Amino acid sequence: MANKAVTMEKLVALCKARGIIFPGSEIYGGMGNTWDYGPVGVEIKNNLKRAWWKRFVQESDNSYGVDAAILMNARVWDASGHTTSFSDPKMDCKECKSRHRADTLIEAHSKGKVNPDTMSNAEMEAYIQEHQVHCPICGKFNWTNIRTFNLMFETSRGVTDESQNKIYLRPETAQGEFVNFLNVQRTTRAKVPFGIAQVGKAFRNEITPGNFIFRTIEFEQMEHQWFCKEGTDGEYYDSFKQKAWQFLLDLGFDEKHLRFKDHDKLAHYAKAACDIQYEFPMGWSELNGIHNRTDYDLTRHQEFSGKSMTYIDPITSERYIPYVIEYSIGADRLMLATLSEAYDEETLENGEVRNVMRFHPAIAAYKAAVLPLQKNLAPQAKELWEKLKKYFSVIYDEAGSIGKRYRRQDEIGTPYCITVDFDTLENGTVTVRERDSMEQIRLDLNGVIAFLTEKCIF
Ligand code: GAP
Repeated sequence: MANKAVTMEKLVALCKARGIIFPGSEIYGGMGNTWDYGPVGVEIKNNLKRAWWKRFVQESDNSYGVDAAILMNARVWDASGHTTSFSDPKMDCKECKSRHRADTLIEAHSKGKVNPDTMSNAEMEAYIQEHQVHCPICGKFNWTNIRTFNLMFETSRGVTDESQNKIYLRPETAQGEFVNFLNVQRTTRAKVPFGIAQVGKAFRNEITPGNFIFRTIEFEQMEHQWFCKEGTDGEYYDSFKQKAWQFLLDLGFDEKHLRFKDHDKLAHYAKAACDIQYEFPMGWSELNGIHNRTDYDLTRHQEFSGKSMTYIDPITSERYIPYVIEYSIGADRLMLATLSEAYDEETLENGEVRNVMRFHPAIAAYKAAVLPLQKNLAPQAKELWEKLKKYFSVIYDEAGSIGKRYRRQDEIGTPYCITVDFDTLENGTVTVRERDSMEQIRLDLNGVIAFLTEKCIF
């Protein structure tokens, strides 16, 4: 059962009101399906990316990070297959001129009972004809045939028109990891199996973006490629499924809101592929993917670049092109799932409703808010704030009643409120209020850093 309190409308409104996410280019009337992260949102998203990096790079015995260029040699996309086959089946309504994905029309019409992933374009056209699937915008039935539409954004390089060459904004970060396979292996002296990870922007000219930050044309991916020997790939595919699942549980996701979904139609190079789906406010949808990509990517880059991608085992001298297990998750999509999972409306004993974002403390924008009980305690409170700032992201607030200040912090999910009061002057202790239980304890000023360190670790 989904988090019942949350709807997409409530999330969008809260994000705008509390500085988490704003509509992109808003003062110019916006730019469809682009979003800007605000002061609170950028902290949360950075914390998600940091938690992912810590888990999949820093805490991994044999995984290494890269930060590759967004603009890559166009041949990369020929090798990867994106120039020829990274496309969606598009249909236009001849009446209202709106554009739709044929597979999405079928999914919506059949209420998820028909899986268009397994259908050819001709089969999709036949289904739409037979079931008289009308345009969801104008209600008419007057479609163009299906045309495939490449999702890559094109741009060009060069200073004069004559020297222009077509290049692309990368549609996935994965290729930056594949093209650096040799560089990473050589400089780290890593032995197969090992991993390469990257976090960065990707761009897709999606036909049907939407659902807030769920599907956008510019987004961030966190991708990890695990290079292993053929024969061990099945075992690593299973272990990455488990690692991806555990990461979500450790972030505080309720297992009831997650499920695995195997792909019905595999890409021609894939041996196995599945998603972890999350029960978003609009329903179950893909949160991340785990793919067994075989030796396809390195083999193709070997073919197109002319550089050998063969790995030589230093012990057995065996030569082979490694298989790849890919784990890929969108940072923005994880952000949406995290917001949705954290959202709560709690009815208190006095009947008041408290809005609270129950983030894992490591993910919350601020680990603590420092609050002077009264304004004349501001110097002591600011002294504590200055001290804590060196270690954590902390916020200071002296405006309004203490109750209102607590509520403001609840709404952005700050796990601890530290109040400097008159006892602080007397005995050097502060009140620490915990967000979820609202319980308060007194803590020695000298113990605050150790307390927050222990509570906010991921
Ligand atoms: N390298 C493999 C790859 O890119 P994908 O399933 O196309 O696979 C991986 O994308 C993840 O990236 C998805 O599970 C999703 O979390 C995120 N993602 C993909 N397209 C997106 C979009 N248009 N907007 C936001 N996130 C997206």
